[in-house]
Amino acid sequence: MVIAECMSTCWRNTKSLPFLFRLFIQGAMVATPILLLFLVLPITEWEVNGRMVSYTELWSSGEGAAAAVSLALAGAGAWGLAARRAESRWLLVISPVAPYIVLAIFSASAPVTLDVIVSAVLTAAVFYFCLFRLRAVRAYLDAELKGSELKGSASNNFSKGDDKMKLSKESNPKLTPLSLEFTADFGLDHVGRRYSPKERVMTLELTRQFLGTSTLGMVGAGHLAKAIALGLLEAGLPKHNLAICHRGSKETDRELSAAGLVERVVDKDIVTRGSRILLYLVRPQDVMAIQGADFRDDGIFISFLAGVPLKNLPVSIADTQRFRVMPSAPDTLRQRNGIAALYPADNPLVREILESLGLRVVALKQESDIHAFTALGPCLPIALTYWEGLGNKSDEAELLDAARKFGLPSYDSILRWAHSVRPRGLSNDEQKRYLTQATTPGGVTDAILAAIRTGMKLPTALERGIERSRELAGE
Ligand SMILES: NC(=O)c1ccc[n+]([C@@H]2O[C@H](COP(=O)([O-])OP(=O)(O)OC[C@H]3O[C@@H](n4cnc5c(N)ncnc54)[C@H](OP(=O)(O)O)[C@@H]3O)[C@@H](O)[C@H]2O)c1
Repeated sequence: MVIAECMSTCWRNTKSLPFLFRLFIQGAMVATPILLLFLVLPITEWEVNGRMVSYTELWSSGEGAAAAVSLALAGAGAWGLAARRAESRWLLVISPVAPYIVLAIFSASAPVTLDVIVSAVLTAAVFYFCLFRLRAVRAYLDAELKGSELKGSASNNFSKGDDKMKLSKESNPKLTPLSLEFTADFGLDHVGRRYSPKERVMTLELTRQFLGTSTLGMVGAGHLAKAIALGLLEAGLPKHNLAICHRGSKETDRELSAAGLVERVVDKDIVTRGSRILLYLVRPQDVMAIQGADFRDDGIFISFLAGVPLKNLPVSIADTQRFRVMPSAPDTLRQRNGIAALYPADNPLVREILESLGLRVVALKQESDIHAFTALGPCLPIALTYWEGLGNKSDEAELLDAARKFGLPSYDSILRWAHSVRPRGLSNDEQKRYLTQATTPGGVTDAILAAIRTGMKLPTALERGIERSRELAGE
């Protein structure tokens, strides 16, 4: 069972490889074990140097051993690469030359000509170039860097026998939370390499392991929930591990049906009791929607509600198992180019979920930092779209001043991100639709847009958003 699961994870991983590579690696994963079997078992005759040879001749000449070594190296290398093991690339590189080393050991075999050796060395060189130099392959293996951190912490913290959730920063020292003062160059990843959103590959390995047969539940199935659900499925969450509930609006059912998610809708009690990871995605004013619900005591609870502090959530879940996320709007999730604040930020499982959605995680040092981040970060593309749609120009210096006032010193990169994700050239109808799906009535963005409508300048309207976030928090 475990082996089958590992094999299926490896196969799924290969789907993140460039197309031709994927064909090559998947081909090697399937063909090499089959050929090895044919080679080892005396069930067929083989042709060597244009001559049919018997099973005994094949092995006594060294040709059998040479072919077996090459196939074993290629097979192990392909499966290793599928498992995102960087070191396995060497097996693939030496696989074309290894047979000739074996033949040299079997001195009885026919002499190997120079052109054959040259072509084997050239093949190895091509393999080396593709596997070690190509950016796409390096990006594929970069996911392993994060994945291995996660795998490490996962095995440190929960195993089949002990499935209590205890993931913590201490057990995973490699995961240094970013701070709100991070040098937010969104073109750089955590270790300073440049990447594009497409290259950010992230598996849901830890999440899948944590869920087992339980579900990742969503209470609320609105704009944000749908984008998250589809993003998680795309990132590899099996559909049967997803459970969704909402208040029951027909419109939402229709939308879930169009998104192919309606079959995952179940009763709220089933979602809250059966889900080891619960995402809370109702509007802030509906915060009491899960009051009195039963929860698993080994689960984690992730609230996306703007303005509602963790301590005000009506749930009987330990503080250490509650997390708060403030992501950018659903369209940025669909583009896999969003940002999200996370508090507390030391849990690799929660980070994995967010990063699998293509979100760049901004770790908050204290929960109250979320007010300024919400208005000046995720809300900014929407506010800019509305502001500039009214024929206004945005003044970057003023926005930077506002950010400085609220302790966001590296704000220029958030500004750049906001300009890069905000839609342009929308018709009136398209703009209306965009603003509707990005705005929760009564929420922070809504307050910013309302302030702009009353004639406030953009930075002042954003400050109004910060105030609204605090109001929602009851501060
Ligand atoms: N949209 C954004 O850009 C964005 C960005 C960051 C954070 N957020 C936060 O994410 C949350 C969701 O936002 P949204 O825009 O997705 O809101 P939304 O589209 O209005 O969706 C809210 C969902 O909550 C469901 N709901 C309400 N009461 C419920 C109850 N008692 N039991 C179960 N489900 C219930 C609704 O069900 P029905 O569909 O049946 O009415 C609806 O599916 C908000 O708290 C918001 O602050 C949103």
